[in-house]
Amino acid sequence: MNEHHSRRIPLNDPLIDVVQVKREPAVGAAATLPRVNQAAHHAASTPAVRAGAIRTGAALSLSDVEYRYAADPSGGQQAAGLGPLTLSIQPGEFVCVVGPSGSGKSTLLGLLSGFLKPQQGQMTLAGRPLSGPVPELTLVQQEHALFPWLTVLGNVGFGLKTRRLGRSEQRARALAALKQVGLEEYASRRIHQLSGGQRQRVSLARALAVQPSLLLLDEPFSALDVNTRQQLGQELLGIWLTQGSTVLFVTHNLDEALSLGQRVVALRAGQLALDAPACDLTAGDLKAALEEGATGASKKL
Ligand SMILES: Nc1ncnc2c1ncn2[C@@H]1O[C@H](COP(=O)(O)OP(=O)(O)O)[C@@H](O)[C@H]1O
Ligand SMILES: [Mg+2]
Repeated sequence: MNEHHSRRIPLNDPLIDVVQVKREPAVGAAATLPRVNQAAHHAASTPAVRAGAIRTGAALSLSDVEYRYAADPSGGQQAAGLGPLTLSIQPGEFVCVVGPSGSGKSTLLGLLSGFLKPQQGQMTLAGRPLSGPVPELTLVQQEHALFPWLTVLGNVGFGLKTRRLGRSEQRARALAALKQVGLEEYASRRIHQLSGGQRQRVSLARALAVQPSLLLLDEPFSALDVNTRQQLGQELLGIWLTQGSTVLFVTHNLDEALSLGQRVVALRAGQLALDAPACDLTAGDLKAALEEGATGASKKL
């Protein structure tokens, strides 16, 4: 048994058996992090999940979605952006999106969260057109945009204020989310009294409090040290196993993508470079796909 996997998940978790997975044989750089995605595959076949008792995630679909930023007025260069991109994500799937800086990862999340409007194509969430901000979708960013004048609990409950919930219900939901990230004892602290990792946990709790059917994360752990990043990754997986949101996790770290995702989507210059199950991939495959010519040809393994 791999002690790294069993350590992060609460012992009373009914899914504890599914996270006790074997370490993969060493394959290049990908072997530096344990592969947890096998646990996800096991979890996807547990009776509770099959019965729909756990999965609450929504299907996401993008069809020929394209977004171009306004061209540089000095001319010359082609306008940067994303697409055309076609992608279909299953309810409850944990997908990691990788790609070098400038490959369109944040643009993709901007389109999904309604900050940007596609110039072409259609997007749907749970079969319904997605054309602006919707409450069942939340975004966690690298820079935790937390309010310093609110307590930890106030920050976590902030997104619930616009919902039709009574005060006690709001408080209970915020406390439950804080508990999920292991910070219930910090409820009345101020943000400046927390470490970087704890602040990112608060950001995650704020997103979880609204019980999103789609959770978007834009390089959420990249400002943290390696140990904290791995620890938070494991915790996120534990939460996902019990909560079942569909997750789109953006990272430029290939090992992180391989260790967390069930599936990895690689973007290069705004185009799909590769889309494959994480268990079929090595970091070498991803590197090769990202380094291939900018032909936009997508590689399916
Ligand atoms: N506000 C903007 N105006 C013009 N170009 C932008 C803007 N934001 C991003 N871009 C360009 O769009 C491309 C994709 O950016 P982005 O989605 O932020 O990439 P990533 O998140 O993968 O680093 C890049 O070439 C970037 O320079
Ligand atoms: Mg980005």
